[in-house]
Amino acid sequence: MATNRTFTMIKPDAFGAGNTGAILKMIQEAGFKIVAMKATKLSADLAGKFYEVHKERPFYNDLVSFMSSGPIVAAILEKDNAVEDFRKLIGATNPAEAAEGTIRNMFAKSIDANAVHGSDSDENAEIEGNFFFSQAERV
Ligand code: CMP
Repeated sequence: MATNRTFTMIKPDAFGAGNTGAILKMIQEAGFKIVAMKATKLSADLAGKFYEVHKERPFYNDLVSFMSSGPIVAAILEKDNAVEDFRKLIGATNPAEAAEGTIRNMFAKSIDANAVHGSDSDENAEIEGNFFFSQAERV
């Protein structure tokens, strides 16, 4: 059965462009409750660890460098069917393919600067939430 939590990051492009508020508004209006949230800046080391699963991919170095280039917002979100519904809300990884009205369609600039991250499975949502937040940091 699908769990009801997912993990997201508002990436450096969207944070830097001042789109954090607009993106959080879309997330809340889509019915997601914020369970934990922080603004932070990843070191290259931490960004590399977070995306370790992509270590062998050709885009890994660019991804790590981009994700450590500026502040981000990390959050755990709660809703029925959270992982799947959130991926629908954000749209395809490549903004050129993201459906109209999705967050990436509205705010993303490129496949790296794609505005937001959303967990791709319940298992990764748990791992990624634990990467950023202790139990005491969750409501
Ligand atoms: P994200 O959902 O954060 O997960 C991995 C990120 O790698 C992805 O969003 C993209 O920003 C980035 N990326 C860059 N190139 C690719 C690619 N060819 N396929 C998938 N992800 C890519």
